[in-house]
Amino acid sequence: MNKILDGKTALITGSSQGIGKALAIGFAKLGANIIITGRNRENMEKTLKQVEEQGVEGIIAPGNVQNYSEVQNVIAIGKEKFAHIDILINNAGFSRLKPIHKMRVEQFEDILKTNVLGVYNFSHALVPHMMEIGGGSIINTGSAIINSPGPRWSAYSMSKTALLGFTESLGIELKGNSINVNTIMPGAVNTPLFRMGMTEDMIKAIGPMAPEDLVPFYAFFASDLGKKVTGLNVDMDICKSVIEMEKNLEPNQEVSWSELKEIAKEKFKPESFKKAKKYRKLINFLLQYK
Ligand SMILES: NC(=O)c1ccc[n+]([C@@H]2O[C@H](COP(=O)([O-])OP(=O)(O)OC[C@H]3O[C@@H](n4cnc5c(N)ncnc54)[C@H](OP(=O)(O)O)[C@@H]3O)[C@@H](O)[C@H]2O)c1
Repeated sequence: MNKILDGKTALITGSSQGIGKALAIGFAKLGANIIITGRNRENMEKTLKQVEEQGVEGIIAPGNVQNYSEVQNVIAIGKEKFAHIDILINNAGFSRLKPIHKMRVEQFEDILKTNVLGVYNFSHALVPHMMEIGGGSIINTGSAIINSPGPRWSAYSMSKTALLGFTESLGIELKGNSINVNTIMPGAVNTPLFRMGMTEDMIKAIGPMAPEDLVPFYAFFASDLGKKVTGLNVDMDICKSVIEMEKNLEPNQEVSWSELKEIAKEKFKPESFKKAKKYRKLINFLLQYK
């Protein structure tokens, strides 16, 4: 894949480790300069080193996403270094799994302040700049857990469900400003957050995605190829299932959504097929990216 993010600057929250770190390195490989933000300085230094190894520039701008003045400071550091910030990835987040009667209200507030207020803070503080420079991309990290209800997930699930309406409404609102807004909803991803309290056997049994495998999903929306696609909450499992359907075709056949859609229509429930149709441009990109 050529350098589809060349000349762009991406601010990635939660890029000190896990998914955000993988996105920072992956976006750097695609040519973007990176603003690394989080709270753990030592981890951010490690991300910076790997970003710079890709031949682009990076900068560390520490801050807590819950705190609006710290968020403004992160953006000011990024603007001073790169003059323009074209991509915002609202990825910082965490889960604390507890039954409701064991969750303290302050713990619940902490989840909401990071996973919801944090997304709003960065979007609110950066949209005026994106309007000024003539456009941009906002991509949030949601979670597929909202489609698999279960005990102990209620607070986290509530926080990630909030992104659905935010994405759809802000996508419409900012269309005229050439700013696209989308949310990627991963299932299990092998990160420090996911590994917490898990044994190697448990991890193997779940079979999480590698964080690096998320890069093309985000890169599509951040690149000029996905600029006009907005307001989507992307169910990654549906995209992955469509791509798997390639195996049903003759080898060497050129594959795009057009070739796969009849198979998808047959195999998916109508609701999932409807979603797959909405993701068709992303699916075409993912088919080429492999
Ligand atoms: N891993 C999964 O299976 C999975 C699945 C679906 C969705 N997700 C979502 O993916 C995102 C990243 O998760 P991950 O698995 O990569 O977790 P992780 O390894 O724990 O990384 C979380 C990142 O978020 C940052 N962060 C957390 N709270 C923050 C705050 N208040 N202010 C600033 N930065 C903060 C952390 O930075 P510092 O430590 O430097 O503060 C860290 O860089 C989250 O939104 C999570 O909900 C994860």
